[in-house]
Amino acid sequence: MSGEAAEARPAQADPPAATAASPFLAACRCEPVTHTPVWIMRQAGRYLPEYRKIRAEVDFLTLTKTPELAVEVTLQPVRRFGMDAAILFSDIMTPVEGMGVTLDFAPGPVIEAPIRSLRQVEALRIPDPEESVPFVLETVRVLSGELPASAPLIGFAGAPFTIFCYLVQGRGSKTFSEAKAFLFAEPEASHKLLEKLADTMVRYLEAQARAGAKALMIFDSWAGLLGPEQYREFAFPAVRRMIAALGPLDVPLIYFPNQGATLMGTVAECGADVVGIDWRLPLSDARRILGPDTAVQGNLDPTALFAPREELARQIDRVLEDAGSAPGHIFNLGHGIERNTDPDAVAFLVDRVHEVSGQA
Ligand code: CP3
Repeated sequence: MSGEAAEARPAQADPPAATAASPFLAACRCEPVTHTPVWIMRQAGRYLPEYRKIRAEVDFLTLTKTPELAVEVTLQPVRRFGMDAAILFSDIMTPVEGMGVTLDFAPGPVIEAPIRSLRQVEALRIPDPEESVPFVLETVRVLSGELPASAPLIGFAGAPFTIFCYLVQGRGSKTFSEAKAFLFAEPEASHKLLEKLADTMVRYLEAQARAGAKALMIFDSWAGLLGPEQYREFAFPAVRRMIAALGPLDVPLIYFPNQGATLMGTVAECGADVVGIDWRLPLSDARRILGPDTAVQGNLDPTALFAPREELARQIDRVLEDAGSAPGHIFNLGHGIERNTDPDAVAFLVDRVHEVSGQA
């Protein structure tokens, strides 16, 4: 949030109706809540039989490009579990096609011509989202009309470095070594690509907010692959640039630097309202580093959902306890839900978070 945006927020003293009706939006602003809000990353997806039923008929790209279907799968987990927020059903790679990149999913993103030169970077467009992804904006518009005020819509985009990883590597990887090597070998082209991605994602997120998204999240899934110096030189300035540009929207901004424990000192300077924390860093440590004015989101290990109920309950309670009693905690997993998770374990989690935190 820029200084200018901070001044544009006297609303903190007198919460707008939207914040009052939504524990999620209140927690984003570090305001008191009646219960800890909960949603989970990848909450719409293959662990849900109702999602698999739709996916049996259409491929993933078609699903993301058909508003009627994207709306339906976004609503599925909200309906089934009573989540405190909905997240737009799309993918971090969706806005990249409009830049001039040919993309497929198998099942993760696959790039037809990976980017390995300054010339390729220069050829990329910064598209107008109304032209390149009208289906996403239509999905957002319909959802913001259909969702109850208690489950506001989160719009999202990938962080520049995470999209960079796929564009340069060409596909998913455990190490993304070719993408990282490009940072060292071609710093100028790397900076240019990261800036272009930042500007594309700013436009994309602005358009989602205009279409009705009530919060915006930036997924930096591969931030933790970088050492502190590379993170500070490449990944962080691009995120900071995005957050500064989005500040005037006055919509809560969530930044999720996955595996970011060792980067948290730098992350604390990013300006986001909320920082997503994976399970490797205790929330109490994250809060100490980030300070009292930044909310935290997380951070149950997704594999805890495979534990017997008694142990799962203990793990949920431990996260709540570790978050402490100060306002500004949104319960979530530390990363996306695993595809073979039992939906009943998710129902148990949501009810338990509401029950235990509501008694406090
Ligand atoms: O419910 C939600 O969270 C909203 C939808 C969403 C998807 N992808 C749908 C999806 C969101 C927020 C994303 C973000 C995303 N996509 C990230 C960042 C979050 C993270 O997990 O770190 C990343 C790195 C991607 C790239 C991506 N897309 C991968 C690696 C995959 C394969 C995943 C897998 O489990 O095999 C995808 C495809 C994808 N995106 C699926 C879904 C539901 C699976 C598609 C299918 O076959 O049905």
